[in-house]
Amino acid sequence: MEIPHVLPVLLFGSDEKLPAPYGLLSAVLHAHSGVRYLILIGLIAAVFLAFNAMRKDQAWDGSPKRLGRLAMILADIQLLMGIFLWVYFIYLNTGLKMKRLKDMLGMQEVRFMAVEHAVMMFIAIVLIHIGYIRAKKAPSVRQANKSQFLFYLIALIMILVAIPWPFYGHMGRGWF
Ligand code: HEM
Repeated sequence: MEIPHVLPVLLFGSDEKLPAPYGLLSAVLHAHSGVRYLILIGLIAAVFLAFNAMRKDQAWDGSPKRLGRLAMILADIQLLMGIFLWVYFIYLNTGLKMKRLKDMLGMQEVRFMAVEHAVMMFIAIVLIHIGYIRAKKAPSVRQANKSQFLFYLIALIMILVAIPWPFYGHMGRGWF
């Protein structure tokens, strides 16, 4: 099967046959790319609402919690799509051969997606979960809001840095 050129990095240097229908890979990649904006909006809102509630000593159980949960669910969906893309990325680029894995990791733009992007995003999503669970178990309203505010803010910064923005030069991807 002829591999289309639309998935430049996913198929980077690959001479493997596609192990999944091309349409599925393309759909997941586009969804993964678009969901970033929903996550960013959700995280900014969750951070802002928690900060506001913390300052005014308001309950975490209302809108901060709702937005915190929404951002967490979006991040989990993104993680699932990311794992799917990652498995195919590694498979297609290495054919599961050590030598090709080493060659691949020598290329900065490929390493950025396969290692830096995946690991930083994974840690950010874990932080979101920790922030939410800590908020849920917090002994006071202030501590609940503070926990969501701090953990979500750190996750937001990590996600902003690890997104392959178009202005990252050869490591970047499109806006959508
Ligand atoms: C909040 C979390 C995440 C965000 C916002 C995010 C965002 C993005 C964006 C914007 C792209 C570029 C898509 C395009 O080329 O149009 C991308 C690609 C990719 N992501 Fe993520 N990602 C996240 C989490 C993850 C995780 C956890 C993994 C791995 C476990 C992962 C694996 C990948 C891979 C392998 C690609 C490369 C696809 C390719 O261009 O060939 N992502 N991600």
